[in-house]
Amino acid sequence: MNSTQTPSLFNGAHPLRADVESFYHLTKGEHAGKACQGTACFAARHLNPGCWAEAMQNKPRVYCLGECFAAPAKGQTNPRPPVKITSRQSVVLGRLANGNARTIKAYIEQDGYTALAKALKSSPEDVLSAVEKSSLRGRGGAGFPAGRKWRSVAGQKEQVRYVVANADEGDAGAYIDRYLMEDDPHSLIEGMILAAYAVGAAKGYIYLRSEYPLSGTVLRQALVDAHAAGWLGDKIGGTDFSFELEVYAGHGSYVCGEETSLLRSIEGNRPEVMARPPYPTESGLWGKPTLLNNVETLINIPWIVNHGGEAYAELGFSKSRGTKVLSLNSLFNRPGLYEVEFGVTVRHIIEELGGGLRGGGTLKGVIIGGPIIGMIPPHLVDTPLGFEELGAIGAGVGHGGVVAFDEHTSIPDLVEHVFSFGAYESCGKCTPCRSGSARIEDIFANAMAGDATKADLQECRDLVTALKLTSLCGHGTGLARFAESILRYYPEEIEPCFK
Ligand SMILES: Cc1cc2nc3c(=O)[nH]c(=O)nc-3n(C[C@H](O)[C@H](O)[C@H](O)COP(=O)(O)O)c2cc1C
Ligand code: SF4
Repeated sequence: MNSTQTPSLFNGAHPLRADVESFYHLTKGEHAGKACQGTACFAARHLNPGCWAEAMQNKPRVYCLGECFAAPAKGQTNPRPPVKITSRQSVVLGRLANGNARTIKAYIEQDGYTALAKALKSSPEDVLSAVEKSSLRGRGGAGFPAGRKWRSVAGQKEQVRYVVANADEGDAGAYIDRYLMEDDPHSLIEGMILAAYAVGAAKGYIYLRSEYPLSGTVLRQALVDAHAAGWLGDKIGGTDFSFELEVYAGHGSYVCGEETSLLRSIEGNRPEVMARPPYPTESGLWGKPTLLNNVETLINIPWIVNHGGEAYAELGFSKSRGTKVLSLNSLFNRPGLYEVEFGVTVRHIIEELGGGLRGGGTLKGVIIGGPIIGMIPPHLVDTPLGFEELGAIGAGVGHGGVVAFDEHTSIPDLVEHVFSFGAYESCGKCTPCRSGSARIEDIFANAMAGDATKADLQECRDLVTALKLTSLCGHGTGLARFAESILRYYPEEIEPCFK
């Protein structure tokens, strides 16, 4: 298939119960060919006002098609982003930079499945210990140490275990996992087989957002080819290890990227977020120990197995080791996918990689891994890319999508946009998230309309505190983090609206 064909949407999805279906936004492929309303498209709406106006009319809304380098985007024409590696070692993006490795033949020609062949000659403990030594941290947002999670699953008494790849990639501005899955699908499959071998799982799922139909088609073909080559199925490589893998297509819900929600979704249950503990490592899919990692996290594994955990830990800096893929949005002069080592500054990302802002625009701020994460104002762009370092300024590494805002975006407008998204995608379990986000959206809409009687900044601050203190998951706390960064760094744009 060439990259411009749009494959069928819900091949393989299970039928939904009525009470479950009502949770989702896109159960009938409503997003096909529609314009996107995500934050990267919002930031670039002046580049194509017609496309943005169309996006704002969509019911249901369509968020994040994974084409933020060409934002505002209207899917799915399947364009390809530019790809560049600037790290000393290319761990993740090598095959994309060489064109692609969509077929198993191309993957094998570029060292594919050598890590698995090597691992099968050693013990699961060797794989586990390499991951621990690598200091790899999850790339899905939370930065949790991968080795600790793997060790926990491997140590459970229950023998039925699962491996799940989180391919929901809902963060606005992130289009990393999409192109990895479409142009290097076997690297994810190999990473998942290695994970299953290490933790003793016999079954795995790739939870894929439905807005990425081409990813689904490519992955399903890759699974067939991996089976035919003997890398999936019974007695892999002549050992006693057996593993089956399938793709599960989501139905349009940002919150289903959250791990407990995602697992309920695969089970066919209403995917409201659940309190932890117990963590999925102890009680995940169908109550069994489950290793759930992000796509990019898993794609690091073959390199770690081939080169050793120590070699991986030599890359990066501070407590953030290895490389990270960043996806730059269309407001940069050079949007695209970049593999960098942790430790580069945000300024380096904006100026050296992105080539500054398109049309000589003035940087108002940048969100990395948003939108439910703090905004980085221009005076803090010398902060290095690192989990703790960005966390200390109220921002984060998140998923690695980099969205810049220029003078076309007013900060109150951005707040309304983010809270509108937050309210629309809330799972509804916590009141401050369900009702409070919609209220903050309203307050800012009223403030911008000049109706100060319906816009109280103190009420807004109180709602943000409630969101921060009482939210069950990172959706609510992330919205609070975003709002706090705005109230802290942009008072000169916020306060005049409320007078
Ligand atoms: C609202 C919400 C949405 C999330 N969406 C994603 C997502 O799309 N992809 C992802 O990998 N992690 C997402 N996460 C994080 C997951 O819950 C989980 O931490 C992650 O997938 C674990 O994998 P990792 O350890 O490899 O990062 C989300 C979290 C929250 C709270
Ligand atoms: S914070 Fe929001 S999305 Fe998360 S559990 Fe509560 S209501 Fe659901």
